[in-house]
Amino acid sequence: MALRNIIKHGDPALRKNSRKVTSFNERLSMLLDDMKETMDHFDGVGLAAPQISILRCVAIVEFEGEFIEMINPEIIESSGDALALEGCLSILAKHCLVSRPETIKYTYQTRNGEQITNTASGWLARIICHEIDHLSGILMIDKEQKPTQ
Ligand code: CO
Repeated sequence: MALRNIIKHGDPALRKNSRKVTSFNERLSMLLDDMKETMDHFDGVGLAAPQISILRCVAIVEFEGEFIEMINPEIIESSGDALALEGCLSILAKHCLVSRPETIKYTYQTRNGEQITNTASGWLARIICHEIDHLSGILMIDKEQKPTQ
């Protein structure tokens, strides 16, 4: 495994669309292992491949003991609305108040290519939405809301 460099806001790679993964091979497994090591090292709860300059639809999430590797993830249903502060390993200097769905139904493939559909709510849903946004070049600052008076 190897620690990867996390690029920061301002790097054009963070604004690009990632391409779908079609080969579930050893290279993908190495990417996932490196992403896990990198996320743990920087004490994050999520990391998307574009953040390490790899424009592929791959993201990982770790929250309260639940670790999810998502290949080609998509939100297929969402409901509710929750406002909270979130952070990003590519924008360390700030936190943004962002509205996210309270509950999501999402689908992704595992590192072996198996298709999974699952639901998440609360913080886990927030982190998954944040990471999936990265795959379309969307950052939390794009969705920042000003606190209501
Ligand atoms: Co982020």
